Formats: sequence, C-alpha cells, structure tokens
Amino acid sequence: MQRIIGNIIGIETSCDETGVAIYRPDDGIVADLVYTQADHAAYGGVVPELASRDHVRKLPAMIRETLDLAGLQPTDLAGVAYTAGPGLAGALLVGASTAVALAAGIGIPAIAVHHMEGHLLSPLLEDDPPDFPFVALLVSGGHTMLIEVAAVGRYRLLGETLDDAAGEAFDKTARLLNLGYPGGPEVARLAMSGDPERFDFPRPMVNRPGLDFSFSGLKTHTRELVKRCQPDDYADIAAGFEQAVVDTLVIKCRRALEHTRLERLVIAGGVSANTSLRQALDKTLPDQVYYPRPSLCTDNGAMIAHAGWHRRSEGVTNGLIAVKPRWPLESLPAIELTKPT
Ligand code: KG4
Ligand code: ZN
Repeated sequence: MQRIIGNIIGIETSCDETGVAIYRPDDGIVADLVYTQADHAAYGGVVPELASRDHVRKLPAMIRETLDLAGLQPTDLAGVAYTAGPGLAGALLVGASTAVALAAGIGIPAIAVHHMEGHLLSPLLEDDPPDFPFVALLVSGGHTMLIEVAAVGRYRLLGETLDDAAGEAFDKTARLLNLGYPGGPEVARLAMSGDPERFDFPRPMVNRPGLDFSFSGLKTHTRELVKRCQPDDYADIAAGFEQAVVDTLVIKCRRALEHTRLERLVIAGGVSANTSLRQALDKTLPDQVYYPRPSLCTDNGAMIAHAGWHRRSEGVTNGLIAVKPRWPLESLPAIELTKPT
C-alpha cells in the first residue's frame, strides 16, 4: 500500500468549471482556483465540446498558478487527484490526461476521484466537521441523492431523483423566466423580491412513502404558469418555485433521518449553496445540519484534492487514462478515515 502524506493537487473538469487546488492534511486548503466557463450562457446549458476545449485552454496555466499561490514546486507534490467521473466524457478526459501526465512527470501517484464523493466529503473541510455516521443530501446539476454515510466509502443510497436533478430544475426554471445560466443563483436572486405564497406549486412526491424525488412535474407546472403570466409576475413564480423545491427537500431530509435514526445531516453540491434551503433546514433541524462554505458547494478542485487524500491508497491509477462518465457512488470501496494529525 502506498502512503502519501503532504500536498495533494486536485483537478476538477467534469462539467463547466475548471478547478485546481492544493490540500494538505496539516493545513487544509492552501490554494484554490476556480474558473467558470462563460460561453455556455448563450446556449442556456453546457455544450460538452466547448467545455472540453475551454478546460484545455485553462488547465495548464491554472496548475502553475495554483502551485505559485501555495509557494510550491511540482516536486513538492505527493499526489495528483483528478475527477474521473461522473461527468462529460470529453471534459473528464482533459483533467484525467493532464493529471496522469503530471503525476508521471513528477513520479508520484495519480488518484482517480468520484465527483460526488468530492461533494459528499466537502463539509469535512470546515472547522466544525460532522462525525460519522450521517445522512447526506447531494444536490447538484446532475444528481439529487439521499445517502446514508457510515464512513468514507460506506454509502447506502436511500433515495434519488426519478427524473430531473434539483439543480437542473432550477436551471430549466431560469430559462423559462429568461434568466441566465447557471440558473440556481439567478432564480434565488429573483425569488428574494417575490411572494412565495401567491401561486400554488405542487410539492412533488411528498405524500408518497419513500425517499425518491421527482422534479419534472414541478417543471411542467412552472411552464404552464409562465404561459399565463407576465414578466411582472416572474419574481413571484421564482419565489414559489424555490419554496416548493426547498419544502420538498426538507421533508425528505427529515424523513431520511427518521428512517435511519441518525442525527446529523450533511448537504453538499451546487444547490446546497441556496440560502433558503440552508435557512429552512437550520430551522427544522437545529444544530443537526452541516454544509460547506458556498465556494465549496459548487464544483471546485479543493473537494477533489481532499477526497483524493482519503483515496490515496486505493484510487491510484498510474499510467492509465480512463474516465467513467457514469459511476455509481455506492460502488466505491470502503476506507477507514485517517484523521489528519
Ligand atoms: O455541483 P455543481 O456545481 O455542478 C454539478 O456537479 O452539477 O452544481 C451546479 C448546480 C446548477 O444546476 C446550479 O444552478 C445549482 O447547482 N446552483 C444553485 C445555487 N447555486 C448553484 N441552485 C440553487 N441555488 C443556488 N444558490
Ligand atoms: Zn458537482
């Protein structure tokens, strides 16, 4: 077994953010750069080929800059962690090939990281990290999952979305309301000046038992409502939509805690940056909810470096450039959490 202690560089290129960061167990995140691609806004969604090309353009300089910010030379690195999946195949390959080449050049391990495990473990980067076990709500642009987390790598899927992901629902609603991409922050901003009670929105699946989600009915409801309304009404629509998503997520989180008899809830992924969601969970489950700072909710290299450090023994893929656009989180092997000393 190969032990690594020291600086791990993390490379994230699964979608439209290029993220590079350095994590080391003694100090946490020592440098963290994220570049959000702007070209996709004109298309209302991520264009895979444009994403890959932009990663190619940005990544090498960002790696140099991250090392400079941390005051490190490449030879000070102990491992190169990279997102191997899930995500867009071409975008993932840019990060994977760069990471494997960098690691080979320095003579250190390249470590394949599961993007959602990066999100899931990101609250551990904060000052008051949750103890295991806990329930994790992972809400991003591509996933909505409730997971029982016994330890690092010991994951049981409790529920997931049957159709759209929560972030995707925000992005589609933003498009209906003529807002920009990514839609989550834009809908949330507009919702602040709206009345969430004015229009009735469904709370999908809350009356059915179980912990799965479905957001496509909410999307259809919003589309029909927009047809009947004027731009003056959009703030109220945004507020009603956001409230419906938040209520649904809160109900399912409470249910997951009851079902597992666990006390702690972790939320992570892009939608966990949503202020209304955080406030509603804090109110319903006081002192039980853990989330990362907003910059660690959306895609970033720090969560990949950190997860790579936990995976330093079994994630090593030296010389092999392979990505997994689809990769079930529950298929990851369990590992014992090594506390930073
Ligand atoms: O985790 P993430 O950065 O990328 C994926 O792994 O998908 O999540 C991106 C998603 C997008 O759908 C975006 O609209 C949503 O997270 N998002 C938000 C907020 N910030 C980002 N949704 C609601 N409220 C926010 N403040
Ligand atoms: Zn993500």
